[in-house]
Amino acid sequence: MQRGDVSQIAAFLPGVTTFCGADAECALDDIEDWLESGDRSGTWFFSCFRGGRVAGFACCDQVPIARGTFELNWICTDPGCEREGVGALLLARVERQLRRVRARLLVVETSSRPAYRKVHRFLRKNGFRQGARLKDFWDRGDDKLVFEKRIAGGR
Ligand SMILES: CC(C)(COP(=O)(O)OP(=O)(O)OC[C@H]1O[C@@H](n2cnc3c(N)ncnc32)[C@H](O)[C@@H]1OP(=O)(O)O)[C@@H](O)C(=O)NCCC(=O)NCCS
Repeated sequence: MQRGDVSQIAAFLPGVTTFCGADAECALDDIEDWLESGDRSGTWFFSCFRGGRVAGFACCDQVPIARGTFELNWICTDPGCEREGVGALLLARVERQLRRVRARLLVVETSSRPAYRKVHRFLRKNGFRQGARLKDFWDRGDDKLVFEKRIAGGR
């Protein structure tokens, strides 16, 4: 990802229905921090392009203390480009990076809210399984679902 991608991401984030305003701000803050940080080891942001424009972005980073475990912190497609394979391309890019560093496990935290069903479908379609559920974690009636995927060849 490059600095020039940020304004295009900022333009489509408000239309992402699973994200509230705070999520969108948090994503932009994370991108800014990463672009400004001199030390990018263990954290990566990727953009995906369609027709010369940013169609989605993803971020993964290493979980401190755990060995070979990474978290997919963000994966987001421009709502105007959904179901066209952008998410799968982003995930493939993340996994290529993870194989390079011999990562073992990729996890994603999501919510049980109905709006996230498409995210769960996307994850299952791309080889994740639900590994854990923490009841009422985000709020009453809103559980944390943790999806996981083993990375082939990991340490
Ligand atoms: C999850 C997400 C990244 C998928 O991106 P995408 O570019 O649509 O993904 P792909 O085109 O590679 O995959 C499409 C698959 O995802 C699922 N999916 C995506 N959008 C869907 C929708 N509106 N309804 C149902 N399933 C959907 C389906 O499994 C679909 O496969 P199918 O079309 O064969 O049924 C995208 O929906 C998104 O950005 N969601 C909002 C952000 C978010 O909540 N991210 C996750 C938490 S950080």
